[in-house]
Parts: sequence; C-alpha cells; structure tokens
Amino acid sequence: MKFLVINGPNLNLLGVREPDIYGKEDYAALCSLINATAEELGVSVEIYQSNHEGDIVDKIQRAMGRADGIVINPAAYTHTSIAILDALKAVALPTVEVHLSDIHSREPFRNVSITGNAALKIIHGFGFKGYRQAMIYLKEQIEK
Ligand code: DQA
Repeated sequence: MKFLVINGPNLNLLGVREPDIYGKEDYAALCSLINATAEELGVSVEIYQSNHEGDIVDKIQRAMGRADGIVINPAAYTHTSIAILDALKAVALPTVEVHLSDIHSREPFRNVSITGNAALKIIHGFGFKGYRQAMIYLKEQIEK
C-alpha cells in the first residue's frame, strides 16, 4: 500500500513559523514522524511539500494509479482552493485532510475547508500526531 502525503505552503517553515500555534519542531521532524508511522503501518510513503497551488494540483494528478491514498495538509489553500478540491475529486483517491492547529477555534476565515469536501475525514488540532491519526484512518478505510 502506498500513501502520498502532501504539505502545502509555509509548512516547510515549521519550527520557525508561529511556534505558539504550530509548535517548535521543524519540518524534518514532521517528515520523520510520517516515515516512522509508515514503517509502523507497513505502508510505503512519499512526502511532498510545495508552496505553489498548481504544483500541488500536478502532484495530485500524478498520484492517479501510483498511490492508494492521500493525506493532505493544504495549509492556506484549504480555505481558498477549488483547484485542489477538483484535483482530489478527479483522481478520486481516498483522502484524509489534516491540520496541525484547530482551524475551528481560530480566525473565522479558517473555519471553512473547501478542500475538505473531497476528504473522508478532517483531523485538526492534534499537532504532528494528527498525521499519524490520518495515516492510521486512511489505512483502515482502504482495507475496508
Ligand atoms: C494549517 C491551518 C491553515 O489555516 C494555515 O493556513 C496553515 C496551516 C494547519 O496545519 O493548522 O498554513 O493547515
């Protein structure tokens, strides 16, 4: 089983970026947790990060026939990107959306997830651990 984990804009700045909200651990630490979880679950994983909406759309399109499921944190594009939503719907791969922070307890513009309309589930507010939860849930759903 192969997972694609996609991280959107500014997540490469974890550790530096608003540590009160996103924590003090850096992006490499997040990648380590994702890789360790993949090993624990016996799945293979590709991790991709981009600050560019079109690149994320391209990556989702290329996952067709290559990945069994997607975990995505579209970051700010969560709240704006119909293009990412449409790409997720187009490839129709089981998808779990994850956010480090609790998007429902922040600014009102973060309350709405456009991309989440293509997700089986949205996990938010659990920090890095949310990625582990997302991968566990995704595997369960694929095996169903
Ligand atoms: C985020 C929440 C988004 O609102 C924000 O734009 C991000 C990160 C999160 O992981 O909590 O960049 O997706």
